[in-house]
Amino acid sequence: MKKICIVGASGKLGRYMVQHALDRGYEIVGVCREQSVPKLADFEGRITIIPGATNDREVIKRAVSGCDGVLTVLAPWGVQQYSSGTAQAVMDFAEPGARLIFSCGWHISRDGKDVYSWKLKALVKIFGGIARLFRFVELNDQVEACRRIFKSGTKWTVVRGSDLEEGESQGLPVWSRHVGDTILESNLTRRVDFALFMVEALENDELIHEAPAIVGCQTPSALAHNAKI
Ligand SMILES: NC(=O)c1ccc[n+]([C@@H]2O[C@H](COP(=O)([O-])OP(=O)(O)OC[C@H]3O[C@@H](n4cnc5c(N)ncnc54)[C@H](OP(=O)(O)O)[C@@H]3O)[C@@H](O)[C@H]2O)c1
Repeated sequence: MKKICIVGASGKLGRYMVQHALDRGYEIVGVCREQSVPKLADFEGRITIIPGATNDREVIKRAVSGCDGVLTVLAPWGVQQYSSGTAQAVMDFAEPGARLIFSCGWHISRDGKDVYSWKLKALVKIFGGIARLFRFVELNDQVEACRRIFKSGTKWTVVRGSDLEEGESQGLPVWSRHVGDTILESNLTRRVDFALFMVEALENDELIHEAPAIVGCQTPSALAHNAKI
């Protein structure tokens, strides 16, 4: 893999992904909103930036051209199919056979077998409801984006993040297929390591057609699980 595209490069997760990808020597094309280009100033001259809305199909078409892999931050902003529009454009225009890695949260379920705590269910319901009421976030559109990804014939991986925190890297997060599995109990990942998992997934074929739910490798639940095996 030589050239990759990062859609949503200027966000917190996006900037960590840019750094990990540079560390691996990839040539990077980043997409971010026009007003967010200054947030990528630290990387000036080292990456190509294409400014524009990530659900603008022409922007995505240009950005993913010639890329072996695409890392996409699915952001549930606004109520104009921002996530699903972005995901659809990436799938439509990525090179055939390109590795496509998408980010989202634990609330996305691939097969309905995830077991959620009452806290997470309440959070999604209350936050989702209020957000939709004020028209700034549309969680259901992230669900729609993932529904389309899961049924696509592309080489996708959907990385489902736990609660996030800032801090130094602790290493590659561990993962499981279902929320509710004991290894995930701690429900915390460093954002820098979420980004690491996304970038490592580009070259990990075992993750093709998986929707790993991740958790920090140094969290109590991950350590307890590993001590047992
Ligand atoms: N936050 C959490 O606790 C959490 C937990 C689990 C999973 N996740 C997942 O992790 C990923 C990154 O989330 P994050 O919370 O760390 O945020 P983030 O990396 O800062 O990403 C937010 C993204 O949304 C864009 N954005 C912000 N406001 C926007 C608007 N009004 N219209 C269009 N785009 C807008 C940002 O672009 P600009 O740079 O242009 O603002 C950025 O690309 C997401 O896929 C999220 O579902 C987050």
